[in-house]
Amino acid sequence: MITFRPSAKLDKQALLVAFSQEQVRGKNFSSVPQALRKSIADIVGGKQFLGENGETFPLLVQKQLVLLVGVGETRNINLTTLRCTLRRALLSAPLKKAKEVELILHDQSSAVVAAAIEAVILGTYRWSKYQAPNPNFIENKKVFIVAQAKPAYQQAVTICEGTNLARDLINENADVVTSDYLEKTIRSIIKDKKNVKLEILNRKELKAKGLNLHLAVNQGSNKEPKLIIVQYTGLPVHKNYTALVGKGVTFDTGGLNIKPTGSMETMRTDMSGSAAVIGTLYNTVKLNLRKNVIFVCGIAENAIGSAAYKPGDVFVSYAGKSVEILNTDAEGRLVLADAIAYTVKNYKPSRLIDIATLTGACVVALGHDYTGLVTTDVDLSRQLVHSSNETDDRVWRLPNYPEIKEAVKSRVADIKNVGWPKGAGGAITAAEFLRQFTDDTPWAHLDIAGTAFVDGQCRFYFAHGGTGAGVRLLTHFLQNN
Ligand code: BES
Ligand code: MN
Ligand code: ZN
Repeated sequence: MITFRPSAKLDKQALLVAFSQEQVRGKNFSSVPQALRKSIADIVGGKQFLGENGETFPLLVQKQLVLLVGVGETRNINLTTLRCTLRRALLSAPLKKAKEVELILHDQSSAVVAAAIEAVILGTYRWSKYQAPNPNFIENKKVFIVAQAKPAYQQAVTICEGTNLARDLINENADVVTSDYLEKTIRSIIKDKKNVKLEILNRKELKAKGLNLHLAVNQGSNKEPKLIIVQYTGLPVHKNYTALVGKGVTFDTGGLNIKPTGSMETMRTDMSGSAAVIGTLYNTVKLNLRKNVIFVCGIAENAIGSAAYKPGDVFVSYAGKSVEILNTDAEGRLVLADAIAYTVKNYKPSRLIDIATLTGACVVALGHDYTGLVTTDVDLSRQLVHSSNETDDRVWRLPNYPEIKEAVKSRVADIKNVGWPKGAGGAITAAEFLRQFTDDTPWAHLDIAGTAFVDGQCRFYFAHGGTGAGVRLLTHFLQNN
C-alpha cells in the first residue's frame, strides 16, 4: 500500500533515501530532514557512500533505521534500472522486516515517482499463497512516498493493481483458474457498472453459432469453453471501438501432440493473454477511461481424453474457412481465430489487438524481454511502440507480408494450423494464420510467450511467475489513442 506525504516525518520503522552521485559529491542533502544531515554528511565525508547505482548503506539515527541507496549519475539513470535498484533495496536485509517504510527519492519528478510506485507494487509482488508465511519478510509493506499527491500517481497505483491482478490469475493453479473463475473475476470487475454489456458464449452457444475451432481445442476437457465479451462504452458519442482479444488457454498439455516434460510445467500461464485483457479491463473501469473498448477472452483447456481433437482433423471455423489440424499443440491460434472472427463480425471494431502466449518460436526470436508485435497497420505499429517506450512493457516488431500466406496453405482444407517445416518463422506464420480471420480490420498481434512469465529467479523487477505483460502497454495505448 502506498501513501503520499508532502514532507518526510521520520515516524516510520524505516527510512529509505535515494541519492544520485551528484547529490553525494556536492554534499547536497537538502532532500532529507535536518535531523539526518549530520550523520549522512559523516558517512559521505568518510567516502563510505558514493551514491553509485545499487550501493546501499544502513545507518541508525535516533533509533530509526535509515538505508541510503545510490542511484548513480543522473545522466545514466534510466527508469528500468531505477525500479530494479529501489526494488532490491526494499527487499534487502535491513528493510525486509519493516512493516512501514518512508521513502525519499533523489528527484521528485513525475516519471521518477511513478517508477518508484512500480518498484514498490510490481517489484515486491510475490506469489506466496501456498507457502508458509515467512516471519523474516513482511509482504505488503506500507510505503510512504515523500511527494505531493497527484492524480497521475493514483493512476499509476491503479495500473499496478491491474497488472498484479493479471499476475494472480496467471500464478494460481489451472484447476482453480478455470473459465468459470475467469467469468467470475470479470463479473466482479464490472458489477454495478452501467456502461458495460456482457455477452458470454458457453459450449451450447459456441456450438449453435459454429465456433468449431474453439470447441475443437476444448474437446478433451471436462471444463466449459467460454467466449466472454465485455463491451465498454466510455464515450457514447463515439462509434469507434477498440477490440482487445486474449488467448485464454487455462492449461496447455499440447493435446494428443503432448508436450514433453520440461515444456508443460509452466502451461498454466497459457491464459496470460486473457489475464492481460482482464487486467486492462480492471484499469479501464477503475480509471473510468473515456474510450470505447471491447474486451474479449477466448477460454478453453487443451486437455487429453478420449474425446480430444486429433492431428489430421479438419474443422470449419466460425468465419467459414476450413482448417486442417496438423498439430494439436498449435491450439492458441484456433481459439483466437474464432474469437477474432466473432468479434469482427458482431461488434465491428475499428481496430483489433490480440494478445497471446502463442509460440515458442517467438521466445527463440526475441527472448524474454520483448513481446513480439506483428501488425499490418502503420498507426497501430507507431502507437504500440510508443506505449512500449513509455511503459517499459516492451514490444519489438516482426514482419507480415503478402507472400507469407503460402506458409499456411493446406492440401485438404483452406488453411492449416502449422507453418513452415521445422517451425521456421513460427511466430510470424502463426500471426499470419490469425490475420486471415481479421477481415481486414486494422489489426495488431502481441505474442507474449516470452514475456508473460518469469521461470526462475527474477527478470528486471519481476519475481518468478506471471509478469502481467501487456497490461501497462494496453492501458497506456487506450489512454493515449
Ligand atoms: N502455448 C504454447 C506456446 C508457448 C511456448 C508459450 C512456450 C509459452 C512458452 C503454444 O500453444 C504452442 O504450443 N505452440 C507451439 C506451436 C507449434 C506446435 C506449431 C510451439 O510454439 O511449439
Ligand atoms: Mn500449445
Ligand atoms: Zn498454448
